[in-house]
Amino acid sequence: MIKMRDIIREGNETLRAEAKPVKFPLSDQDQQLANDMMAYLENSQDPELAKKYGLRAGVGLAAPQVDVSEQMAAVLVPGEGENAEPVFKDVIINPVIVSHSVQPGALTEGEGCLSVDRDIPGYVIRHDRITLRYYNMAGEQKKIRLKNYPAIVCQHEIDHLHGILFYDHIDGNSPFNADDDLVLIS
Ligand code: CO
Repeated sequence: MIKMRDIIREGNETLRAEAKPVKFPLSDQDQQLANDMMAYLENSQDPELAKKYGLRAGVGLAAPQVDVSEQMAAVLVPGEGENAEPVFKDVIINPVIVSHSVQPGALTEGEGCLSVDRDIPGYVIRHDRITLRYYNMAGEQKKIRLKNYPAIVCQHEIDHLHGILFYDHIDGNSPFNADDDLVLIS
């Protein structure tokens, strides 16, 4: 079971490395890792389990964050309200953004990261809409379109596979600078 102590923090060079593509069929080790990463997200979103194990809530966790430099990330964006189906839930493997909107998007509240133990305010400017191609754990190729919040989450996770952290996208001189076409996502 992945806990906070298994998650590496900024300063660790694995977070700045280019992760390796994953080979199929998944090795037992990769399969275990994928399941463990998704279990972390599920547990972290359960208030009782999160408290019990001291887990910070997360909607995404990438393999480099547990010091495995492979192109794999778990994403779990919950639906609104109890018993709602997740908006997006999958382990995305070797993901590629094949196209994206010109229109930028950013979360109104900025972003956080399980590997960053400090608040860094500012708009993290990303694409508002993306078309994402990836492989799931079964090795099936998926191609999906995402917009707004789940699109932002997937871009954050894919960045982890390329050594990029969210604050790299914040304008240091003017963190809340917004172009007219920026979609602010609450
Ligand atoms: Co992160």
